[in-house]
Amino acid sequence: MKLIIDTDPGIDDAMAIGYAAADPRIDLIGLTTVFGNVHTPQATRNALRLCDWLGLDIPVASGAVQPRVLPPFPPSHNVHGSEGFGPIPAENAQATAIEEAAPEFLVRMAREHQGALVLCPIGPLTNIAAAIDLDPDFTKRLKACVIMGGSLREGGNINAYAEANIYHDPHAADVVFQAGGNIAMIGLDVTHRTLASRADFDHLANRSPDFGGKLNEMAQSYIDFYETVGKFDGCSLHDPAAVIACIDPDLFAYEPHPLGVVCDGKRSGETCAVLDSRPPVRVATKVDAATLHDQFFETLATLP
Ligand code: BDR
Ligand code: CA
Repeated sequence: MKLIIDTDPGIDDAMAIGYAAADPRIDLIGLTTVFGNVHTPQATRNALRLCDWLGLDIPVASGAVQPRVLPPFPPSHNVHGSEGFGPIPAENAQATAIEEAAPEFLVRMAREHQGALVLCPIGPLTNIAAAIDLDPDFTKRLKACVIMGGSLREGGNINAYAEANIYHDPHAADVVFQAGGNIAMIGLDVTHRTLASRADFDHLANRSPDFGGKLNEMAQSYIDFYETVGKFDGCSLHDPAAVIACIDPDLFAYEPHPLGVVCDGKRSGETCAVLDSRPPVRVATKVDAATLHDQFFETLATLP
C-alpha cells in the first residue's frame, strides 16, 4: 500500500513513522510537514532525521508554517519537548527537503498514483486544505485519507471540546471534512483506548536498541506529561493508531457522519456530526485495542 504521512514530528509522530517503515505491507513514498507540535522548520528537520534513523530514502516536502485563518500558535513544548523529540537534542539530518512545497507534492502524488495512494495526516490539516485549493478533486483521487484528529463523543484534549490537530487549524479541517472521497477520522474516541506503558517501551528498547531505544527515551518524557494531566497510566498511541488504520482498517468500527468543525468561540476546534448535505466521513468509534497494541510493538521490534 502506497502511503504518504503529513506530520508535525512530534513523539507519537515518530512512533507512527517508525511503524510505517517497519510494516512490510506499507510502501512509504513521502513525508510532508506542518506546524503543530513544533514549528514547521523543526518539523521538517525532524522528519528528515527520522528518515536518517530509519534508513528511508524518500522525499520530504515542507509545508504550511501557520494556520489557514488563525494566527500562528505556540508549539506544544510541554508535551513533545522544545525540539519535538522529548529529551533528544536538536541535530540536522544528512538530507534536505525537496524544493516542491507540501501541497504541490501531495497533488502531484495523488495524480500519479490515482486511486492507489493512502494519505495519513497526523498533524493540523493545513497542507491538505491547501492541496484541495489547488485541486478540488484531491481527496477523491486518493484511495483513502485517514486522519488522526477530532473527537465525536470523547471531548477534547486541548480543552473540553477540541482535539489538538483540529484545534490548531479548524478552518482547514472544515475544508477537508467536506471535500468528499474516502475520508476516515481516527479521533480521540479510539486513540484514548489505544494505550502503551513505560514498560512496553522499555521492552521495545531491549528488542530494538537503536530505533526502539530512541522511541523509549522519547516515550518516557511523553508519559511524564500524561502523568501530569493524570489521565492515563501510560500514553495514547494517537498517530500510530491512524497509520495502523490505513493498513488494517478492520481493527476499527466506524459510523458514517457528515462532520462540521466549530471555527470560533470557546468551542473552536470541536468536531460535530451535522445534519446537512456534506459527504459522510467514516468516524472510528471502536477499536480492537489489544490487537493494535501488540501489532504496534511486535512490528517496531523488527527494526534494529
Ligand atoms: C495529536 O496531537 C499531537 O500532539 C499528536 O502528535 C497527535 O497528532 C493528538 O491529539
Ligand atoms: Ca502529530
